[in-house]
Amino acid sequence: MPDNILVSVAWPYANGPFHVGHVAGAYLPADIFARYQRLRGNRVLMVSGSDCHGTPITLAAEKEGISPQEVIQRYHPSFLKTFQTLGITFDLFTQTYTANHYRVTTDMFLRLLEHGYLIRQTMVGSYSESLGRFLPDRFVEGTCPNCGFPRARGDQCDNCGQLRDPQDLIAPRSTLDGAPVTFHDTEHYFIDLAKLEPALRAWLDGVDRGYWRANTLLFTRNWLREGLRARAITRDLEWGVPVPVDDPAFKDKRIYVWFDAVIGYFSASIEWAERSGAPDAWKEWWVCRPDGSAPARSYYFIGKDNIPFHTIIWPAILLGYGDLALPYDVPANEFLNLEGDKMSTSRNWALWAPEIEDRYQPDALRYYLAANAPETRDSNWSWADFVQRVNSELVATWGNLANRVLSITHRNYGVVPQPGDLADADRQLLAATGQTFQAVTELLDGVKLKAALTETLALAQAANQYLSEQEPWKMVKTDRARAATVLFVALRVVDTLKTLFSPFLPFSSQRLHELLGYQGILAPQPRIEDAIAFDGTPRTVLTGDYPVDTGAWAVSDLPPGQALQSPAPLFQKLDEALVAEELERLRAKVRA
Ligand code: MF3
Ligand code: ZN
Repeated sequence: MPDNILVSVAWPYANGPFHVGHVAGAYLPADIFARYQRLRGNRVLMVSGSDCHGTPITLAAEKEGISPQEVIQRYHPSFLKTFQTLGITFDLFTQTYTANHYRVTTDMFLRLLEHGYLIRQTMVGSYSESLGRFLPDRFVEGTCPNCGFPRARGDQCDNCGQLRDPQDLIAPRSTLDGAPVTFHDTEHYFIDLAKLEPALRAWLDGVDRGYWRANTLLFTRNWLREGLRARAITRDLEWGVPVPVDDPAFKDKRIYVWFDAVIGYFSASIEWAERSGAPDAWKEWWVCRPDGSAPARSYYFIGKDNIPFHTIIWPAILLGYGDLALPYDVPANEFLNLEGDKMSTSRNWALWAPEIEDRYQPDALRYYLAANAPETRDSNWSWADFVQRVNSELVATWGNLANRVLSITHRNYGVVPQPGDLADADRQLLAATGQTFQAVTELLDGVKLKAALTETLALAQAANQYLSEQEPWKMVKTDRARAATVLFVALRVVDTLKTLFSPFLPFSSQRLHELLGYQGILAPQPRIEDAIAFDGTPRTVLTGDYPVDTGAWAVSDLPPGQALQSPAPLFQKLDEALVAEELERLRAKVRA
């Protein structure tokens, strides 16, 4: 019986293109995991979309003098382009600005209200006299009453670290125009987290969370330690999902972006089901069975700054709604730095995906980002390291192994040769292959993607070592039968490596699949190309069904006699000179 796997990926604000940190921190790990699960024969639903609400969007719109919709139309297609180029395989990548999402969010709000988990409270809001509207706390600054820092933000002082309310600041002013900020009472809906706390704690304690990442647990426990308080889920704003209550006081208020964005995982699943012609299919990933067990395992691939929204707020919403599956795992990632410094959009210290996605082989980019993933601590993109790792690991270790074995065999036999009796060295390498396969399977199951890649590469190294010892290129002239056995063993290992690398390096693995004489697609994926429009129209990625091949994740059984194709190298070696070129390109952007 295949398992149902929900791969949920953080919804990017559609206010700018991706940088490599987004790809390394969420989209690539999610894709590797989804591809692995599909190869296993499991039923994967991978969803996300553009996060269209919130101040990141309205600020960008104001800055550029265009509407929020136009901002979304500018960047949503750029996300799709990156996914297509890098082979990130969503079942649906939609937006929160859709009729479906508004309907589902409204429904969830009303259901939580009906269940008594939403309460109305009056709070003090920061109000800009010059703009005539309420401001988010972080757009208020003033002098810190604790340390005297003159530019403390309304939500936190960057100097002494104290969390606070904006009305505690001395001489509060707006960061937008420097004009004074006043404080007014304003009524909002709050999610009653205190009421949901026992159920949340029971969920967190009752399930074995031994497999959660340490960082995910730590952030969650820190939040819980102080006890949960009600949190406002509406705002004084014009852009967002309307508050579905018949009350003039809420006409000019909207649902808070973080409340609607997390609901996106659910609304996108419903949209996917409708589009794929089976409108109830989403239930197989979401609706708990009569015994209360989840119908699927759901994984949320996010950056560390999003942890509490996925381990507390979203589970609270799901519990308040009732009968829906809670997250199974939240494999949050740390951050990727650039040449040793934190990426910064304002300084333009960033490596944007559209700048590099067409200039390097997608598998080279995927390899480096996966091998260097910020899985348990911050990691770093360095061009020198990129060139070095691509050349020594991808090209010299893996690409060379495949190319050497295919070339000698193709030249001397044309087909997968018939092996004779196995020698000890052959048996050892095949046994190591079986062990690696097992180890990588367990690591991928546990979302330890980086370690899985390391193990896989180590097997390629062992195979290279075996070839250096056996020297089949010499042996073909002296002992053709023994050479046939060695090359047969090596081809089986290469074929197994093809499968193990496939979630990480899908393009070259498919190519290798063909070179090894197989027909068809190694790892069928949802199709996205038909629905991508690059003309600026916001479009979603629509996918059809794809065949699930339960036999694909297995140690090779490559048959003797299978005709091989004439080989060509899988990867391009990179020129050392491009390190200096790329560094100069980065510096030029900061100067510009
Ligand atoms: N847009 C948010 C960010 O970029 C992430 C939202 S994840 C979601 O930080 F789950 F809330 F959608
Ligand atoms: Zn301070």
